[in-house]
Amino acid sequence: MKKAFIHYFTGTGNTKHAAKILADELNKSQYLVTVINIAEKDSWLKKIEPNCLQVFLYPVYAFVYPKPMLDYIKKLPRGQNNKTAIIANHGMVSDKGGLHTGYEGAGPFFLKRILSKKNYSVFYTDKVGYPENLTVLAPAIDQESQKKVIQNADQLMREKASKILQEKPSFQKYSIFIVIVSYLLGLLYLTIGSKTIGKLFLIDNDCNSCKVCLKSCPTGAIKFFKQKPYWSLKCSGCLRCFNICPKFSINISIIRVVMLILISVLIIPLTVMWYLWVEKNLSLAGVEGLSFIIKSGFFRVTFGIFIYGLLSFVALLMIDKILLLIERIPFLKQLVGFTYSKKFKRYFFS
Ligand SMILES: Cc1cc2nc3c(=O)[nH]c(=O)nc-3n(C[C@H](O)[C@H](O)[C@H](O)COP(=O)(O)O)c2cc1C
Repeated sequence: MKKAFIHYFTGTGNTKHAAKILADELNKSQYLVTVINIAEKDSWLKKIEPNCLQVFLYPVYAFVYPKPMLDYIKKLPRGQNNKTAIIANHGMVSDKGGLHTGYEGAGPFFLKRILSKKNYSVFYTDKVGYPENLTVLAPAIDQESQKKVIQNADQLMREKASKILQEKPSFQKYSIFIVIVSYLLGLLYLTIGSKTIGKLFLIDNDCNSCKVCLKSCPTGAIKFFKQKPYWSLKCSGCLRCFNICPKFSINISIIRVVMLILISVLIIPLTVMWYLWVEKNLSLAGVEGLSFIIKSGFFRVTFGIFIYGLLSFVALLMIDKILLLIERIPFLKQLVGFTYSKKFKRYFFS
């Protein structure tokens, strides 16, 4: 009997469900399927058996993938030229004009490169759209639309399963523009964005310390202090906590967002200054061999974003501490308590 492994990460359940649909289809075709939630066990394989199919399924975050998925793939043992498929699960959004598809970015392109270097033979990359869970920005789509989107996506997953079974090469195509945008957005999200989301949260008085958020967090990023949750840097930004909270107590603090935007703007000149300083000091130190790398546009942009992310992150941590102090002053506490998201409908696959 042929074997297949489906590796998935999920925030709000869509990708878990998609993995199940795929597993059922492969099972029907006499495959022995192991479905792996990468957040639960990551040392499952000592070695990859030859001839077993590998499928990676992930929810799209900022045009790329969740950090745990990237880390997991990097940690995988070398493949044995295994046939491998990658499917990006993006969101479907709605407005008055109807349902619209989100965008999956070039995540499969980057993962294909990493996996190929590790001797996995990626023959298939694709995408599928389940309901949007980015409910910190807009309410979840209504139940009726959710049902339609899920039905449609399930059907697409079945079709993808049959294509995977045929083992015929098929790849998503990405323009160079999309690859660059995804790279830059992804870099920002993976380095600071995901860790920042938790620092923008505000816990209101409806929180009854049920700890559902803590118990369900896939990366163990949530801790409790004085009966209220707070987020450590392990946060992957999956928004499970935000969407699952039975009291809608986890919200976005407007003042924290405003401060984040202010810092983001203020840090631009600082980044430029620091970058110029580093560039000057490296050439003064006579690191000649590196100068052609340092002067390349790609390095400048990547390094610039890295420095920018780092400075924003440090500033954000400082602001977090300052706001925690401000919250102790009753009048100012109200100011910190303003939010826009309390009434937003949340999303969890059901
Ligand atoms: C932080 C974050 C960023 C996201 N970025 C994108 C995106 O760039 N494009 C997109 O189409 N959907 C995006 N989404 C939506 C999810 O990819 C989508 O709803 C997915 O189906 C969620 O799967 P899950 O339930 O398995 O977590 C994002 C969601 C989150 C939480």
